Amino acid sequence: MENIINNIPVTKCEKSKISDVDFNNLAFGSVFSDHMLVCDYKNGAWETPTIVPYQPITLDPSAKIFHYGQSIFEGMKAYKDTNEDVWLFRPMDNCKRLNISAKRLAIPELPEAYFMEGLKALLKLDSNWIPTNSGGSLYIRPFIFASGNGFHASPANAYKFIIATAPSGAYFSGKVKVAIEEKYSRSANGGVGYAKAGGNYAGQFYPTQLAIQKGYNQVIWTDDNTHEYIEEAGAMNIFVRINDTLMTAPTSDRILDGITRKSIIEIAKAEGINVEVKKISVNEVVEAAKNGSLKEMFGSGTAAVVSPIAAFGYKGTDYDLPELENSYASLLKKRITDIQYNRTDDPFGWRVKV
Ligand code: PLP
Ligand code: COI
Repeated sequence: MENIINNIPVTKCEKSKISDVDFNNLAFGSVFSDHMLVCDYKNGAWETPTIVPYQPITLDPSAKIFHYGQSIFEGMKAYKDTNEDVWLFRPMDNCKRLNISAKRLAIPELPEAYFMEGLKALLKLDSNWIPTNSGGSLYIRPFIFASGNGFHASPANAYKFIIATAPSGAYFSGKVKVAIEEKYSRSANGGVGYAKAGGNYAGQFYPTQLAIQKGYNQVIWTDDNTHEYIEEAGAMNIFVRINDTLMTAPTSDRILDGITRKSIIEIAKAEGINVEVKKISVNEVVEAAKNGSLKEMFGSGTAAVVSPIAAFGYKGTDYDLPELENSYASLLKKRITDIQYNRTDDPFGWRVKV
């Protein structure tokens, strides 16, 4: 069945899979909605996007994504309020960041209208997939990869932009325990750390597996040069609270410029919290843990939202964080999710209606 939404041609699936889904038991990113947006880059231009049933993709074995890893992605969420209205959070920032990543990976930049109008059309079509249970949302995964063929180690001449969506609950289940990395690096000066490139995640998996074997959930990356400064975690930026000061590392070409991170900084400042964006040394954090001035650590990210860290490990010692009744993490999580789910005013102008 063909129709048009927001100027995007749509081919609807014959039968929805939604009745097979248990919305109360959703492992993060494991069930996918009925449709996806697809847009091809060929002959030097992005073609008009189309929406089609969610389905596998056929690629030639020589497609450059398989050999040279030209692949970038974004992570966003759609939220449904009690009136069934659908909202996005700072979506243009994701669109801009996708194009920042594209530039670094020599991928042609995508027209912003294709991203925004395509996304809105997809969400209108699959709006019944947006969970309404507490903490639920539709995780959105826009991505671009090299679909062009050939073993020559050079940028492809064809790409695919796809948006797939997955109804999801919390990213972490249970307490989050992190290992501060002493040996491996996620990124380096002049590298691709600031891009949301698939390879950044592939490179993290092995050191993260080693950390998981020791009982941690995630690695906190340190600077590649000295391993003395905290940078970010595998899927989130990191905040540290010492006494009443909330700190986070400055972004750089090694760190993802998280949209949740920059929003948390603004919300915290508006709440009167003293926020410092500064280099955070591991020694400073260890000393603060020892003398009791380390009050909180938490991660921020689209999937992770605001995830309190219960303990961290460093040089063979584990340090537990106190369980505070009125933590900054719980206050800031409430403030940001109230904006995202349209439960409160949006003084920052971040919410966008679909
Ligand atoms: N850092 C990394 C490595 C991530 O994968 C993510 C997740 O997107 C973040 C930080 C948080 O970014 P954002 O808040 O834009 O989701
Ligand atoms: C997100 O929070 O959207 C991310 O991209 C993290 C991801 C690796 C699950």
